[in-house]
Amino acid sequence: MQTIALDDYNIYVGEIWEALQAFLDDCTYSQYFILVDENTKAHCLPLIHKYSSLKEATIIEIQSGEIHKNIHTCSFIWKALMEAKADRKALVINLGGGVIGDMGGFCASTYKRGIDFIQIPTTLLSDVDSSIGGKLGIDFAEVKNSVGVFNNPQAVFIDPIFLKTLPVRELRSGLAEIIKHGLIADATLWEKLKSIENLETVDWTSLLVPSLEIKKKVVEEDPFEYNIRKALNFGHTVGHAIESWALNSPDPLLHGEAIAAGMICETYLSTKILDLPNESAEEVSAYILKIYGKYLLQNEYFEDYLRLMKNDKKNENGQLNFTMLSNIGEAVINQSCESPLVKESLNYYIEL
Ligand SMILES: NC(=O)c1ccc[n+]([C@@H]2O[C@H](COP(=O)([O-])OP(=O)(O)OC[C@H]3O[C@@H](n4cnc5c(N)ncnc54)[C@H](O)[C@@H]3O)[C@@H](O)[C@H]2O)c1
Ligand SMILES: [Zn+2]
Repeated sequence: MQTIALDDYNIYVGEIWEALQAFLDDCTYSQYFILVDENTKAHCLPLIHKYSSLKEATIIEIQSGEIHKNIHTCSFIWKALMEAKADRKALVINLGGGVIGDMGGFCASTYKRGIDFIQIPTTLLSDVDSSIGGKLGIDFAEVKNSVGVFNNPQAVFIDPIFLKTLPVRELRSGLAEIIKHGLIADATLWEKLKSIENLETVDWTSLLVPSLEIKKKVVEEDPFEYNIRKALNFGHTVGHAIESWALNSPDPLLHGEAIAAGMICETYLSTKILDLPNESAEEVSAYILKIYGKYLLQNEYFEDYLRLMKNDKKNENGQLNFTMLSNIGEAVINQSCESPLVKESLNYYIEL
C-alpha cells in the first residue's frame, strides 16, 4: 500500500484494509453510515464487512445512476441520517463511484452544517478523478454538478480489489482520465499505458499512483480552478459536446468514451495551434482508437457539436477555451481557436 499525503488528508492506495482499520481505531465517531447503491451493496459492501470493523454501521442505500444524483436523493439521505439521530460527530462512508462520492460528500458537508466523511471509491473513474480534488455536488435543473460545495474528506481509501467486479466498459471509461493525466503531465505514465494489452489483467496500483500524483499536484496548486487546474479539462471541450449529443441518441456514451474521442480531436488542434509534432498526434490517435474503437461522428451534426461546445461553462468571453498539448506530457491552458478548425479536428477523427 502507498500513501499520498495532501495538505489536509491522506489517500491510501493498494491494499487498504490496515490503513482503514487504523483510521477507524483512531476515531471517536458517534455513529457510522455507509452510503451504497445496489451494485456497491452487492459487490463492495461484503468486502468492507469482511475486512473491517464496520459491521454494525448503518447502511443507506440509494439507486445507482447519474439520474439519481439529484436533490430528491439528497433529501432521502438527509432524512435517513436524521431518522437515525446522526449528530455532528457521525461519519459518512461513501462506498461507490463518482455519483456516491459527489452526492454523499455533499450531503455530509451540508448535514448539520457539515459532518465528516471518507471516500472509498469503487470505480476506476472515482479512483483517479472524483475522489480527489474536493468537488462535491449534484445535478440540478438539468445542469450537471450545478449545486455543490468544495470540501475535503478525512481520508480516501483506494483499493483496486473493487475493480474486479466493475463492468469492463466502465473500466475502459475510467482509463480515459488516466490517459489524460499522462498526456498533460507525465510522459512516463503515457509510456506505461501504451504497454496495456488486456484491461482485465492490469496492475492498477502502478497506474493509480502516478495518476493521482498528477491530480494532487494540480488541485493543490489551484484548488478552485482559476488557472492550472484547467489542464484537467484536456479532451473535455470537444468530449463533453460529444457526450451531451450522444445522451439523446440511441447510442449513449460513457463519459470516458466521449473524452477519449475528444482527446483525439484536441490533440489534432494542438498540432495546429501549439506545434505538437504530427507523429505525437498519430501516436495518441492510434492508441486511443486501439482501446476505444471509433465512435460514429457525423458531419451533418457538426453545428450541433459546436453549439454544445459554445454553451460549455468552461468558456470565457464567448471564445472556446481549450487545454492543448505542446508535447506529450506537457499541457498549455487557455488556448482558443475558431470554429472551422474545430470542425477540421472532427473531420480528422472521422478520417482516421
Ligand atoms: N468530483 C469530481 O471532481 C468529479 C470528477 C469526475 C467525475 N465526477 C462525477 O462522477 C460521476 C461518475 O462516476 P462513475 O463513473 O464512477 O459512475 P457511477 O458512480 O455511476 O458508477 C458507475 C456504475 O458502476 C457501478 N459500480 C460502482 N462500483 C462498482 C463495482 N466495484 N462493481 C460493480 N459495479 C460497480 C455503479 O453502481 C454504477 O452503476 C459523475 O456524476 C461525475 O459528475 C466528479
Ligand atoms: Zn472527465
